[in-house]
Amino acid sequence: MHVAIILLIVTIGTVLFHVLSPWWMAPIASNWHFIDTTIILTFWITGLVFIAILLFMAYCAVRYRHREGRRAAYEPENKKLEIWLTAGTSLGVVALLTPGLFAWSQFNTPPDDALEVEVLGEQWSWSFRHPGEDGALGMASTHRINSGNPFGLDPDDSAGQDDILIHGNELYVLADQPVKFLLRSKDVIHNFKVPQFRAKLDMVPGMVTSFWVVPTRVGEYDILCAELCGVGHYAMRGRIVVVEDEDEYIAWLQTHQTFADSMEPAEPTEPVELEDQLVAEGQRLAEERGCLACHSLDGRAGVGPTWKGLFESTVALVDGSTVVADEDYLKESILEPSAKVTEGFQPIMPAFDFSDEQLDAVIAYIKTLE
Ligand code: CUA
Repeated sequence: MHVAIILLIVTIGTVLFHVLSPWWMAPIASNWHFIDTTIILTFWITGLVFIAILLFMAYCAVRYRHREGRRAAYEPENKKLEIWLTAGTSLGVVALLTPGLFAWSQFNTPPDDALEVEVLGEQWSWSFRHPGEDGALGMASTHRINSGNPFGLDPDDSAGQDDILIHGNELYVLADQPVKFLLRSKDVIHNFKVPQFRAKLDMVPGMVTSFWVVPTRVGEYDILCAELCGVGHYAMRGRIVVVEDEDEYIAWLQTHQTFADSMEPAEPTEPVELEDQLVAEGQRLAEERGCLACHSLDGRAGVGPTWKGLFESTVALVDGSTVVADEDYLKESILEPSAKVTEGFQPIMPAFDFSDEQLDAVIAYIKTLE
């Protein structure tokens, strides 16, 4: 009897939890209603089976409870029951799988007018590549990746020259414009997920995976990494901005450099302005490479220590020692972040493969943040 009561409580508790739970899917902002339908259908099938089995167990626990003098009947085979159960289970499995096959087929059939946008994941940040005016992404390869060419684009490929390189975890897309995301990873497996879009997919090093989506609702949505990719996984976040106004979209695109521009050597500068140029370059790098996603400029502690007042301050380290944040320390912390980790922070910062000029620029910028 006790067992039956516990089973009943579990059943009622599960239903109540479902009805009262605040954890629902975020309102959809894409064309993927079919994925929601599939999830809801799966929910009803598995939910009803779950309740039926619990209630059946409760019934059996009461109906066939131990009584003096009663013995269980031995019945090794019951053809009729087996056929009934096999057919019922098969029907349930078919109902669970079939909508998924249709959804998967749609998922892999992007419309012809879909804009191809590359998403590049790395521990633990996002960057993006827009195909530019020609609408075609240039060839890219992991072995060409270096500090001056973070996407590993082929400098000889004409299709890649006008590709727009977007660093810094934020991507704009146009509402009602189909987008095909081409997913690449620089290091380990990540997963590109925008909960409101419903669609998501793993990013596998050495492969280009893809899915498509039509953003249908204007707004700003979080990009989450949905595959455990190391200690900084939780901090691997970005933002996708869905805009309606094409001018706003183009204006945003124009704030970013094309690949050809990014490969041009810096223009010769007047000696008096050199320091200012360096600081401006450092600020640009800090914004583009996502430093500011973790390091605040106003003294707030983020995922990483603030940069405000950092230069020449005394930093307490996790091993209990202290160090003065001079140029050498800052350089080391950018190139090899795990060498001296600040007390109170996780060792999650990825190493940045910055050139000496880039290091000087970022440090010049940090020095101005008093
Ligand atoms: Cu990238 Cu988790």
